[in-house]
Amino acid sequence: MAINRKVQTLDEFTLQQLRDFPKATGELSNLLRDIGLAAKRINVEVNKAGLVDILGDYGTTNIQGEEVKKLDIFANNQLMGVLRHGISCAGIGSEEMDDFVVFDDETSNKSKYVCLFDPLDGSSNIDVNVSIGTIFSVFRRVSDLGNPATEEDFLQAGNKQVAAGYVIYGSSTMLVYATRRGVNGFTLDQSIGEFTLSHPDMKCPPNGRIYSVNHGNFYKYEEGVKQYITACQKKDATSGGPYTQRYIASMVADVHRNLIKGGIFMYPGTSDRPAGKLRLLYECNPFAFIAEVAGGKATDGKGRILDIVPTKLHQRTPFFVGSIEMMEEMETYVK
Ligand code: AHG
Repeated sequence: MAINRKVQTLDEFTLQQLRDFPKATGELSNLLRDIGLAAKRINVEVNKAGLVDILGDYGTTNIQGEEVKKLDIFANNQLMGVLRHGISCAGIGSEEMDDFVVFDDETSNKSKYVCLFDPLDGSSNIDVNVSIGTIFSVFRRVSDLGNPATEEDFLQAGNKQVAAGYVIYGSSTMLVYATRRGVNGFTLDQSIGEFTLSHPDMKCPPNGRIYSVNHGNFYKYEEGVKQYITACQKKDATSGGPYTQRYIASMVADVHRNLIKGGIFMYPGTSDRPAGKLRLLYECNPFAFIAEVAGGKATDGKGRILDIVPTKLHQRTPFFVGSIEMMEEMETYVK
């Protein structure tokens, strides 16, 4: 088999970026490598989930009161394990854990980053073999290095993110991450067990024809949201319509597709859940950061997601993200 030496692995790519910044310490590259390693391990289990007794409910609920699947626990443990044993992370917050975890050893206390995760998003899709994903967010600590990380390190506005990304376990497995310098996507080459650069410098098309929303909740949405959804359906051919509705109920898969093809993803508040379902720190902040770096936009229907200062770890928010022109049109209805 011919080996393509032009293809860069995730490690080679992050090291290349490091060379452009002589003052960089390499901690972020280490962190991304650690997350990539955990993702490869999670990928193995996701792929064989139908074969072994790891599939299905764990028989407990997480802090959100939602059903926890066994793979969620596995993914959480993998991420926590690699970062605890790595040298670049002072602590983590996870959708699967009630509170943040500070690693609190000499090396970790000197680390300048903390991470937040949704270890396995879309887990209700595990049993039915539909794409799921891992979402992550990286912040530089605001507490003093040398001491354990504190709550204020985790409760920072999304605009302070240093990096954010996701892994999609789909027809192929991809890791996409953003820093302020750009968004790059890496596809797992199973033959060498490495994420390799496949989608350099990803940009979200300014417009699209896909809208993604849970239609089952239509009558629970506020009037502006209903009007926008109706407008998507009523568009005529001259305005590229009617738009196509695509909703997997796995945000990683829905937003990944819209990022590549152009589109809008919405999880608005409903009459019974005004703040919606999605978590600001684990789901919305990372995707808002990625979308903005790629040229898209993300709001809670009123203002920029990345400007929300969180008050608690498991805070929820309505979420709208996607192609800039579609977002601007949506805002004329929702505002
Ligand atoms: P979960 O991980 O509990 O399956 O939640 C998935 C999230 C998100 O990925 C998806 O877009 C949304 O919840 C789907 O929720 P609805 O089923 O309410 O539409």
